[in-house]
Amino acid sequence: VEQAQNLIRIPSDIGADAAKRGLSHMASSMSGSSILRIAQEIRNMIERGEEVANLTVGDFSPKQFPIPEIFRDYLNDAINSGHTNYPPSAGTPDLRAAVKEYFMRNHNLDYPIDGVAIVSGGRPSLYAAYQLLVDPGELVLFPVPSWNNHNYGDTCQVKVRGIQTRREDSFQPTVALLKPHARDARMIVLNSPQNPSGGVMPEKDLREFGEFLVEENARREVAGEKPLYLLFDQIYSLLTFDNHRHFSPVQLVPECAPYVIHCDGISKSFAATGLRCGWFVAPPAITKKLVALGTHLGTWAPLPVQVATARWLRNLPAIAEWRTDMIGRVRERLDCLHNGLQKLKSEGLACDSIEPQGAIYISAQFKLSGATTPSGTVLENNDDIRSYLLQRAGFAVVPFAAFGVDPDDEDGWFRASVGAVSLSDLQICLPRLKQALQELN
Ligand SMILES: Cc1ncc(COP(=O)(O)O)c(C=O)c1O
Repeated sequence: VEQAQNLIRIPSDIGADAAKRGLSHMASSMSGSSILRIAQEIRNMIERGEEVANLTVGDFSPKQFPIPEIFRDYLNDAINSGHTNYPPSAGTPDLRAAVKEYFMRNHNLDYPIDGVAIVSGGRPSLYAAYQLLVDPGELVLFPVPSWNNHNYGDTCQVKVRGIQTRREDSFQPTVALLKPHARDARMIVLNSPQNPSGGVMPEKDLREFGEFLVEENARREVAGEKPLYLLFDQIYSLLTFDNHRHFSPVQLVPECAPYVIHCDGISKSFAATGLRCGWFVAPPAITKKLVALGTHLGTWAPLPVQVATARWLRNLPAIAEWRTDMIGRVRERLDCLHNGLQKLKSEGLACDSIEPQGAIYISAQFKLSGATTPSGTVLENNDDIRSYLLQRAGFAVVPFAAFGVDPDDEDGWFRASVGAVSLSDLQICLPRLKQALQELN
């Protein structure tokens, strides 16, 4: 290639000046993920040969959490059988029917088939809900910490307002907290089990949200106002622990169905983030618009993945067995971390954590602001604390500010994710963490 004649070399800064003037307002205002900056710092440390427990990634390492073996066989079968062309724009009829059955089994809800559409993971459902239901400048409300919603303000040119949740509620929202801000909102976004807190919304609170939707929309209809929608992100729906059960608000308050959009898929419940298959379940009048938008974006899930997912969702014994095993492996990691932090706390060190409830996360607190490091630096904010824990203990976590929390409200809270670590990574890391905490003044 180097020797090819007349090769036209394109420099990496080509067009940068023109783009500065030429990018749309949306593109200019859109910010990249702050978690990626942390990821680079971790990569640098690993390249230098330092040991790091990487608790920053909201993904699964396939070494720790491979997809179910049977599912992998189904994928191979689908490719080998030649399912490699465009899927139907709403998804294959077989997978849509399998998702409909999945909703009947898991939520006791029988949605019309036109309410179910298949997309490439969780994100297209979230993005589409913003685009289809909220006009530029209108308000979207969500509790914080929350995953990614604060970024949609720029991407979709809407107003976003994150409402700070409380530690005593395990950082889960309540109607009482959101209602005072909801009068002008067009959409509320809830996520349970939740990223980043690892909390699961209690049945009572979800029921109250369903009732609030019904009551507020009755008022709006009389007043001739646009409805209030609820985007309900349940991408971690199968990953709940102990007595923390997952519910759809529609199964608790069926009358709120006209206003609820479910986002779900295989990414987290089946550790299949890279396969890109999710489903949007909502009133058909909205789902049809999602399907139309998808035809312009090309956000279909790959056909072989759809074919395999339909078979997998119907293999109930395999799902039951896999779920138990998966929860067990996630739990042993989260428990190791939680118990380790609680032990350090009981020894008088300035840390805390909330008992695991669901998903692959734990909320961990390091109340170290004002402490002095061995090199004499004073830790002033959560980012200083994050950096100290990373550099001194190889303990890599993400500050709540990356999830829309005002840095003034962070109070030393971080997300720790266990999808990419082994139990022994954690066991090895805890003594390092203890030492780093002890070395602070
Ligand atoms: C709460 C939540 N919703 C949606 C997604 C997006 O899932 P996907 O990777 O399938 O787009 C994620 C991914 O981390 C998530 O944590």
